[in-house]
Amino acid sequence: MTEIRNIVILTGAGISAESGIDTFRGAGGLWENHRVEDVATPEAFARDPALVQRFYDIRRAAIQEKLPNAAHMALAGLDARWKGDLLIVTQNVDDLHERAGASRVLHMHGEHLKAWCTSCDVRSHWRAPLADRPPCPVCGARTLRPDVVWFGEMPYRMDAIYAALRDADLFVSIGTSGAVYPAAGFVRDARELGTRTLELNLERSQGSHWFEESRLGPASEIVPAWVEEILM
Ligand code: APR
Repeated sequence: MTEIRNIVILTGAGISAESGIDTFRGAGGLWENHRVEDVATPEAFARDPALVQRFYDIRRAAIQEKLPNAAHMALAGLDARWKGDLLIVTQNVDDLHERAGASRVLHMHGEHLKAWCTSCDVRSHWRAPLADRPPCPVCGARTLRPDVVWFGEMPYRMDAIYAALRDADLFVSIGTSGAVYPAAGFVRDARELGTRTLELNLERSQGSHWFEESRLGPASEIVPAWVEEILM
């Protein structure tokens, strides 16, 4: 068996579930009582910007009240101690990986705590509401939107992600349903490259059959256990 030196970890909503942040694909296919296409698409924003801004304002405020859990802490510990390459690619727009202390984090779906000005194209750190159309701190235009990737938009930094996947010896997927591409396809890319693959999830996911190994259970238990094992 090849020695593991470079690791890519993909995280999804499941890793933040025990911090009290809702996952996306709950019962009924609704996301906090909204259909995804009513709040998380560019078309929705064009149609009803106030509704979309309010929806994100509530979530932005809520995540600031949440705390990282044992799974975020374990990955931050791994980040601090792992000598090889390591990249935590997260689909999450919360900042719990960073607040746990991880630094090798890439937010492929953007970040709640940033606002993107569509006039000057600058992204600014942002904690306050956007529904009242505050001016961009850089250019003054009232054209800020949440810096989150909506359905139909291109995820961020795909080149960097694929470069890390090409060099990885191990791909680990944590707390994601495997329902949303391109992230859902990373496991197949990894398999094609001969990379080892491991899934850590509460239950079997849509993509489980692609992984060489799936460990089932709450992230706060199975992630620290795996980290301890890999650091041995
Ligand atoms: N521990 C581990 N896994 C968990 C836990 C937990 N405590 N709780 C839930 N899960 C698992 C669920 O079983 C599910 O498989 O986490 C997964 C969450 O899946 P989704 O809600 O679909 O979230 P995610 O995969 O991150 O969604 C991907 O979809 O709407 C978009 O852009 C949004 O980034 C998001 C993307």
